[in-house]
Amino acid sequence: MNDIRQGPDKARVFEEWRGRARHWDAWADRMAEMADRFNQPLIEATGIRRGERVLDLASGSGEPALSIARTVGPKGHVTATDLVPDMVASGARRAREAALDNIAFEVADMESLPFSDGAFDRVTCRFGLMFVPDPVRALAQARRVLVPGGKAGFMVWGPFEDTTNFTVLRQAFADLFPEEVHDFETPFRLGADGAMKALFTEAGFAGVEERELRFAPEIPTRVKFWHPNVDMTLGSRLEGEPESVRAALEERILARLEPYRTGDTYRLAAHIRIAIGRHPA
Ligand SMILES: C[S@@+](CC[C@H](N)C(=O)[O-])C[C@H]1O[C@@H](n2cnc3c(N)ncnc32)[C@H](O)[C@@H]1O
Repeated sequence: MNDIRQGPDKARVFEEWRGRARHWDAWADRMAEMADRFNQPLIEATGIRRGERVLDLASGSGEPALSIARTVGPKGHVTATDLVPDMVASGARRAREAALDNIAFEVADMESLPFSDGAFDRVTCRFGLMFVPDPVRALAQARRVLVPGGKAGFMVWGPFEDTTNFTVLRQAFADLFPEEVHDFETPFRLGADGAMKALFTEAGFAGVEERELRFAPEIPTRVKFWHPNVDMTLGSRLEGEPESVRAALEERILARLEPYRTGDTYRLAAHIRIAIGRHPA
């Protein structure tokens, strides 16, 4: 059974995300509108307002940090952080191109944050905590850097089988490379009902709450909606493979999507969870 307190090895995580960074950077701008649809519920749940100082952890290519910078406005400030320098550079590029000047970027491991106690009004993290070896330690760090009464909001995927885009990709990958083990599960390791609530409580947060968000996107079959997911999840694995392998993977994805097709529409599902907690003092 998945131990929610014991995450993956950090050196392996670092290498994986370093390899993925350029694929994330390549898609980030085209995905921004969709990303913001996930960012807004996190911003709302964390109670972020104009003028606040926000720390975003594991920001990747700048999500949700860029959306938060727009929310807090010119009198507020966002510190966007990630373990991987190439990811931090990607977020910084996007902020520069969007002319956002209330945001700073910094390499930081969320298990040992280089910020003083009480430095932030809010802490956020979108789809990052599952990659950390010791999530309770990371959450305790998030609590430490909050002002008394400040709030943290962490977004994670629900259980693996609840999000079609990923289940289909895993099936298609297994069809094509039956002998190969690929870790599709880690991003979903904290998705069980109550898992995040238990971790937040253990890390010393007060007023802990866990919310469930379900999406049921309906997408025309002509839209290659899986394309970013293939690149962002498997881009580094597929580097160097001939075009025929990509074509074969696409063919398997289409086959595995068949159960979700009605006429010219795919009816998909996605399950996201948000945990919120308050600095107790
Ligand atoms: C799924 S991506 C999420 C990126 C972004 N928040 C988003 O939602 O698009 C996970 C990110 O976690 C980062 N990460 C993994 N372990 C970390 C750690 N210990 N501290 C900070 N960031 C970490 C990775 O480098 C990667 O950018």
